[in-house]
Amino acid sequence: MIFEQIPVGPMQNFAYLIGDEKAGLAMVVDPAWDTERILDVAKRNRLQIIYAINTHHHTDHTSGNDELARATGAKIVAHEASRNPRDVSAKDGETLHVGSLELKLIHTPGHSPDHMCVLVNGKVMTGDTLFVGECGRTDLPGGSSEQLYDSLFNKLMKLPDEIEVYPGHDYGPKPHSTIAYEKAHNYVLKPRTLKEFMQFMKEP
Ligand SMILES: [Fe+2]
Repeated sequence: MIFEQIPVGPMQNFAYLIGDEKAGLAMVVDPAWDTERILDVAKRNRLQIIYAINTHHHTDHTSGNDELARATGAKIVAHEASRNPRDVSAKDGETLHVGSLELKLIHTPGHSPDHMCVLVNGKVMTGDTLFVGECGRTDLPGGSSEQLYDSLFNKLMKLPDEIEVYPGHDYGPKPHSTIAYEKAHNYVLKPRTLKEFMQFMKEP
């Protein structure tokens, strides 16, 4: 598997390119800002991009959709609750195939209603649901700390400890971590009841 974490734009975003080198096929997670750079990574690895998956509809994760689709013919994949144009509407638990790679889409609302994480080969791309040592905000339109609680504690933290965490922004002390690291070091993930968590998310 080819896996590249690509820093893009002025907001410390990460785009991701994940490919099956034997099949010559790839997908991108969150094409934004610097589409040229993402296309270069695909070219360098001789990969044809067939899917562009948006973790959620915010522009800093989607601004490259059109350019990438025009350049490659890639299908845009987003959760069915997304307000953006797309080719494929995804539901929780759905799988996509890129050559021999199987990607699982996990619906993780909270930061936004349409948020999905992408699990592939021991790595999970967590968008703005989970950062290294932090979580996404819930005070934007459509945000919900109640839903984020469920997404973090009942979905992401139920993944095996050794799964690697690849966030949508470089906001932490390092660019990626593991579920075990987040359980041990992320102050957002300290044991809390739903009520405590909702109160915690209200604090600055
Ligand atoms: Fe966002």
